[in-house]
Amino acid sequence: MPLTCYPPTKVKNTKKVKSMPKESKTPKEEKSQERIKKNGEVFTPLFLAQQMIDKIPQSFWNDPNKTILEPACGDGIFVELIIRKKIKSGSSLIQAISTTYALDIMNDNILATRLRIINRIHAVLLTSLSKNKISQPSFQSQLLSLSSIVTYNIRKVKDTLSMNFNSLVPWADRDFSFRLSHQEKTKAFLNSLNLPSVDPYILND
Ligand SMILES: C[S@@+](CC[C@H](N)C(=O)[O-])C[C@H]1O[C@@H](n2cnc3c(N)ncnc32)[C@H](O)[C@@H]1O
Repeated sequence: MPLTCYPPTKVKNTKKVKSMPKESKTPKEEKSQERIKKNGEVFTPLFLAQQMIDKIPQSFWNDPNKTILEPACGDGIFVELIIRKKIKSGSSLIQAISTTYALDIMNDNILATRLRIINRIHAVLLTSLSKNKISQPSFQSQLLSLSSIVTYNIRKVKDTLSMNFNSLVPWADRDFSFRLSHQEKTKAFLNSLNLPSVDPYILND
């Protein structure tokens, strides 16, 4: 949400505002006009993302060491569901956060995803604090250290890397297919990221 100044400033000369040149439109308007097409920025609705997460066998979630990468995270719907599912399946908060990675080419999508996850961490820790499961100092230090893991694990992909992304990752292809034959290419891409112990689970249907 944008910061708002109070009291709000009254706009006296509306004619001037109406005749503003195109370039003066807000960044949000520019995004909706140009970015969606260019980057395929159509985000998955919650119900569909949940259905996809539920297709991954429970045995995957039961292992707290399994790592997972969202290669084009948008506003982070999958990242949040992954972390929730890991915690629900017995992972600790730190295990869930430190085994989940996300990338995107757009900086504001990365910021939105990080914020979403840090909000989630805050909510989980607040519940523990209110139930006296953790102390106030522990609440503060955990929030800080988990937030820094989030900043490390959820990152903007570099332009050079995005060229590799387009050629290697199947869902960057125009047909958006999720096929078994692409798994080797996807693994090669993940290796090129140099992330620690990435063990990808790939949806095939
Ligand atoms: C169709 S959206 C999907 C977002 C999210 N996975 C979801 O399902 O809601 C595609 C995302 O890929 C990002 N993207 C586009 N090209 C990319 C590239 N070359 N490397 C990484 N991310 C890219 C866009 O910014 C956008 O957030």
